[in-house]
Parts: sequence; structure tokens; C-alpha cells
Amino acid sequence: MSAQILAGEEGISASVEILRKGGVVGLPTETVYGLAGDAFQPTAVARIFEAKGRPLTDPLIVHLPEAGWLERVVRFSSSEQSQLVHDLTSAFWPGPLTLLLPKHPDLPDLVTAGSDRVAVRVTAHPLFQEVLRRFDSPLAAPSANRFGRISPTSPLDVQIELGDRISLILDGGPCEHGLESTLVAVNVDGNGEGSLTLSILRPGPITKDQLLQYGHIASPERIVNSPGSLPGHYAPKKRLHIIDPDIKGLIPTMHVGSYGYMAFTSPPQEIAPQCAAVEILSPTSNMEEAAANFYGALRRLDQSNVDMIYAESIPEEGIGVAIMDRLRRASHGSNNGTGHHLDGDLQP
Ligand code: TXA
Ligand code: MG
Repeated sequence: MSAQILAGEEGISASVEILRKGGVVGLPTETVYGLAGDAFQPTAVARIFEAKGRPLTDPLIVHLPEAGWLERVVRFSSSEQSQLVHDLTSAFWPGPLTLLLPKHPDLPDLVTAGSDRVAVRVTAHPLFQEVLRRFDSPLAAPSANRFGRISPTSPLDVQIELGDRISLILDGGPCEHGLESTLVAVNVDGNGEGSLTLSILRPGPITKDQLLQYGHIASPERIVNSPGSLPGHYAPKKRLHIIDPDIKGLIPTMHVGSYGYMAFTSPPQEIAPQCAAVEILSPTSNMEEAAANFYGALRRLDQSNVDMIYAESIPEEGIGVAIMDRLRRASHGSNNGTGHHLDGDLQP
């Protein structure tokens, strides 16, 4: 069975109807497609975990249509924290920034996997915003892929990942950014002084440089554990090796069997006979374009008739930091020759 893919008004009203009945729907955001359900209905939230095959220990992001809804799901620890969040949300919302904040007690614990913090975001996608406003309540939505697999950046990707498990995908076209939002914890420092720090739990389209003017950036490991930032996420089924672009000319001489190749700006000069598929992320070296094409390219290479995938490393500047983060996790989680395919397994 496959899910219906609907656009426009028809898609919006059908989505709201399903959500009101406690169902789940694939919705577009400017980062990746999400799988949404009513954040205040535990059965709807449970359906999200079930459809993704996601362990109940891995919390979900709550989506709001505007910052004015924050206090429905968040209880600020202090006026300083609320002020800093106001500054951050004024600068970056709607947009690809998710904030980890103290959870409101009324929000079901299932959403946050029992944690006293909730991740919240306001997407800039007009269709998701419209669904939220009509539904009139926050929506929990992780990326619309099976747990541990490649995130979807088009309605067809969602169909491939979850089409047999959900009934509707709202068509918002291809995703603008193509990588998940930057996830930032707004911490009240444990030293009793009440000073605030930010920690980046997942790099994304909003960069560290953009966040620096809002506060000290602390290292995340000390602060909080975020299950989805484990190695082994975003994994293709094929073995994936990251290579330095300087040595791309050597691969044909080293490689036995067919392979796919992901280039940043240009393919290897001579395409070897064993190279069965090539993807170029951005012919003009544009990082944003590379990010937007990344998951789609990875998915196509994974589906092509190759034994393994080589992916060029990318300069770690701007959103390049987030692309390399996903590439390393994809490589770690891929069938990397050990005979052990992680496929969502939480153990690295
Ligand atoms: O761009 C995005 O953020 C997309 C779109 C659909 O909004 N969503 C997304 O959700 O990427 P998901 O569930 O695939 O990734 C959310 C990440 C996971 O790594 C999860 O562990 C972490 O955020 N997270 C969510 N709530 C958390 C919490 N309360 N504490 C710590 N980490 C949390
Ligand atoms: Mg995800």
C-alpha cells in the first residue's frame, strides 16, 4: 500500500483531518520532511515512533507556528533564559533552528522520552505553518524516514521510507535546505550564578558563527545527551567511504567491483569503467546547493547498482560543517565492511 501525495488546499485540509483523528502525516519543512502527529495526544505520538521504528528513548521535536506559542510547551527556568530565547527566536524563527528548553509539565512525557527538556522549532515552510494554525495545537515531528536511515527531502523520499505505513504525504516540493535544523540547548549553567550558555547538539543550516553573538558556546558532551546525535545515523545500505578529493584519481586503480561516486563540485577526470553512478553536489561550489542536494544524491547512489560509495570530503565552512557531520554518521552507520549493518541500531 502506498500513501496519497496531495498538494495545496486539498492536502492541507486532509492533513488536518487525519491529525484531528490522532493519525500521522508526512509534512514538508524547509529542512527535511517530517512525520507529524498531535504532540498532546500520546496515542498519536506513539504512532510516530511506531511508523519510524524509532526507540521510545529518542525524543521528538515539537513544532509551533510562532514563538508566541512557546509557553504551551516550555516552562522557562528564569527571565534571563526567556530573554535569551526571545533574542534567538527573533533572529532565527521561522527557520532551521531548534531550541532545547525546559519542558512544560502538561506536555506528554512520551514526546521527550521522559526528559525534562523539550526541543522546539518554528518551521518557515508555509504549508506546515498553515496546518499548524488550522490544527491549533503543537505537532511533534521527527524526520520522516525509518529510524537511522537517510532523511527525506522530497515527497517521493517519504513515500519510499514510510509509504506502506502512513496514508498521506503533503506535497511541498523539494526541501530548501536539505539538512536538518541546527539543534541548540539553552543551558542555565550549573555554577549557581544562573549564567547562560548555548551548546550545539547537532550542526545545521544556522552556523556556530551566527550563534556566537548570542552567548558562549559550550561543548555539548558535558551538557546533555541527544540520542540522535549518535554515530550511525543517516545511513545508506551500501558501504560508504569518505575520501580526500586529492586522491580521487587513485580510486579506479584501487577499487575492485562497481562503485558510486559523490563529488562536491566536479567528478574525477576519468570516470573508470567500475564507476556506475556519479552525483555532483554543486558544480559551482555553492555550499547551500550542496546541502540541498546531499540526501537526494546519497539516496540515489544507495539505490543504484553499485557495491559501495565513495564520497568526497567537503570544506568544513558554514553549512559544510553540517554536511560533513551527516557524511561521517552515514559512513559510520553504513555497511562498512564489518558485516554488521547498523540500520538504526543505537550501538555504534
Ligand atoms: O529539521 C529538523 O529538525 C527536522 C524537521 C522535520 O523539523 N526534524 C528532525 O527531527 O530532524 P529528528 O527527530 O529526526 O531529529 C531530532 C533530533 C534527534 O537527534 C533527537 O534525539 C534530538 O533532536 N532531540 C529531540 N528532542 C530532544 C530532547 N528533548 N533532548 C535531547 N535531544 C532531543
Ligand atoms: Mg532524523
